[in-house]
Amino acid sequence: MKLSHLYFLGHFLASTYATDLGPRKYTLPLPHDGANCQQACEILASEFPGRLHYHDSDANFTIWDQKQLQTVYACRVEPVSSNEVSRVLRVLVNNWCRFAVKCGGHSRFPDDAVSVGGVTIDLGMINSTVVSDDQTTARIGGGSLTRQVFAALDPYGLAYVGGRVGQVGMGGFTLGGGTSVLAGKYGWALDHVLEYEVVLPNATIVTASEDSHPDLYYALRGGGNNYGIVTSFNTGRFLEEAENIFSIQDHDDTNIGLEYRYSYSVRDGWTMSSTQRYAEPVMNPPVFDALNGIPALGNLTGGINSLANSTSFSGPLGITRNLFTTLTHYPSVKLGRKGLEILKSKVEEGNLTSLNPQIITYSIPAATMEMSKARGGNALGLDVKGHLVINLLSLSWTTSSLDDAAYALADDFIADFRKAAKSVNAFHPFVYINYASKGQDVFAGYGKRNQQRLVKIQKAVDPRGVFTSSGLWTGFFKVR
Ligand SMILES: Cc1cc2nc3c(=O)[nH]c(=O)nc-3n(C[C@H](O)[C@H](O)[C@H](O)COP(=O)(O)OP(=O)(O)OC[C@H]3O[C@@H](n4cnc5c(N)ncnc54)[C@H](O)[C@@H]3O)c2cc1C
Ligand SMILES: *[C@@H]1O[C@H](CO)[C@@H](O)[C@H](O)[C@H]1NC(C)=O
Ligand SMILES: *[C@@H]1O[C@H](CO)[C@@H](O)[C@H](O)[C@H]1NC(C)=O
Ligand SMILES: *[C@@H]1O[C@H](CO)[C@@H](O)[C@H](O)[C@H]1NC(C)=O
Ligand SMILES: *[C@@H]1O[C@H](CO)[C@@H](O)[C@H](O)[C@H]1NC(C)=O
Ligand SMILES: *[C@@H]1O[C@H](CO)[C@@H](O)[C@H](O)[C@H]1NC(C)=O
Ligand SMILES: *[C@@H]1O[C@H](CO)[C@@H](O)[C@H](O)[C@H]1NC(C)=O
Repeated sequence: MKLSHLYFLGHFLASTYATDLGPRKYTLPLPHDGANCQQACEILASEFPGRLHYHDSDANFTIWDQKQLQTVYACRVEPVSSNEVSRVLRVLVNNWCRFAVKCGGHSRFPDDAVSVGGVTIDLGMINSTVVSDDQTTARIGGGSLTRQVFAALDPYGLAYVGGRVGQVGMGGFTLGGGTSVLAGKYGWALDHVLEYEVVLPNATIVTASEDSHPDLYYALRGGGNNYGIVTSFNTGRFLEEAENIFSIQDHDDTNIGLEYRYSYSVRDGWTMSSTQRYAEPVMNPPVFDALNGIPALGNLTGGINSLANSTSFSGPLGITRNLFTTLTHYPSVKLGRKGLEILKSKVEEGNLTSLNPQIITYSIPAATMEMSKARGGNALGLDVKGHLVINLLSLSWTTSSLDDAAYALADDFIADFRKAAKSVNAFHPFVYINYASKGQDVFAGYGKRNQQRLVKIQKAVDPRGVFTSSGLWTGFFKVR
């Protein structure tokens, strides 16, 4: 698909939400959730009438991943403001009841966004986008979805460095990194947040920016959910041409947005496809000519579109069970090809095509590395000359009997791919949190200095460890 586009991009302010409590010994007993959460839910039910839903009577609740949809929580609460988030957190901590925080709900494990037995704090109602008077920034609710933000900005002729899929939440996307079709030009989303409104572990609401709570500001740029609730061609030439385009993107033409995917389908078997985007309203930009000169199974389709239109689709939720895993490497066409071979052979040996495996590959462009240094820098530790190549293995299936096979395939694939990367000296430790599988050491991949700094800031902001694996907010990836 050729998707051309663009208006201009304003900086933005994410209005996000987090919280904080008195000093206490760092290691806390595991919560006995049952009674604690029952009591917390009762309190919340009286204070948030109509916005507190017990699991058994929450039939309308839906979420992208079937595993998370099947997760049984005690209750789900829908705060509408940072003050309400603060109040909810106070009640949960006072009752020592475990919880999870949901924005767009595109994470993939129980407890990431839907609490296992505890309280799900659903930020979905905190979804306004308010454009500043001078129209250079916007304040975006911590529970907003990509399509809602684009739809709100479009009338102003503004856009945001938002993702490819409209249903993904701005919360998880932006806290973890945020890659987009505009990354060649503007970098990743996390480097465009000027200010975060955060509910700390002690329920205090603070604003973190370069000037206010700068350590917290740094930590929120890549630190995930530890600090607060912040409101396609089957030919080898393909990879060479794609790599050429990635280099052009670094130096000569930042309008380029290219991804390629290697995937299995029952109809076509293993195929290579690409999504070619260009951030100017130009049909068939010549930069893609060489790539498109490769004889193909399918034809180029697409046109000029706006980001708001291209993300407006919202599909059915809760149908598939999903797993992502990821590996980053220095540019190496040889290694890229090896990765595809490893996947194909593992899938075929294991008769695992029903997991619908797909590797999606794109560049972390030079511009991203540059922009990551703005305003004190982010926590990702991405600082190389030129670009890196990011690979996402996505598995998607429909029955729980395949869960174990999926986890095993993901782990085996990464182990072999990593070995191959090291053997050609192209391995890079960065693990993109938004594509990571459980067990991948995301924060170690940021480099020792960033990791240690993140741990230190986490302890300072959360002395009781409420937001840690021994506290109440235990899902997703925890700094350690
Ligand atoms: C179909 C699909 C398309 C995708 N496309 C892209 C893409 O183009 N680019 C890209 O970079 N990534 C992409 N991703 C990955 C995506 O960025 C991550 O899955 C991200 O974590 C999703 O965020 P969410 O808010 O939807 O999910 P959630 O599950 O709601 O949140 C993820 C984690 O972040 C925490 N969190 C969310 N909001 C807040 C908040 N306001 N304050 C504190 N913590 C919060 C949650 O507690 C949770 O642990 C895609 C994923 C999918 C499934
Ligand atoms: C589910 O949504 C429908 C349509 O909006 C509504 O009529 C119904 O009351 C909702 N059910 C519950 C349990 O909230
Ligand atoms: C915010 O979410 C509510 C509830 O899902 C929805 O009705 C409303 O249209 C959303 N607002 C925006 C600005 O998208
Ligand atoms: C691609 O386009 C050509 C020429 O228009 C057409 O003959 C062919 O059937 C198309 N192939 C596919 C797979 O759509
Ligand atoms: C977006 O979609 C609307 C309605 O389908 C259409 O009128 C408009 O021209 C589209 N905008 C762009 C930039 O493609
Ligand atoms: C391969 O998997 C399919 C679907 O899961 C199954 O029907 C088939 O029997 C399997 N074949 C072998 C040789 O295991
Ligand atoms: C809450 O935590 C913050 C950050 O540690 C601290 O600055 C603030 O004083 C605390 N507030 C209260 C009321 O304890």
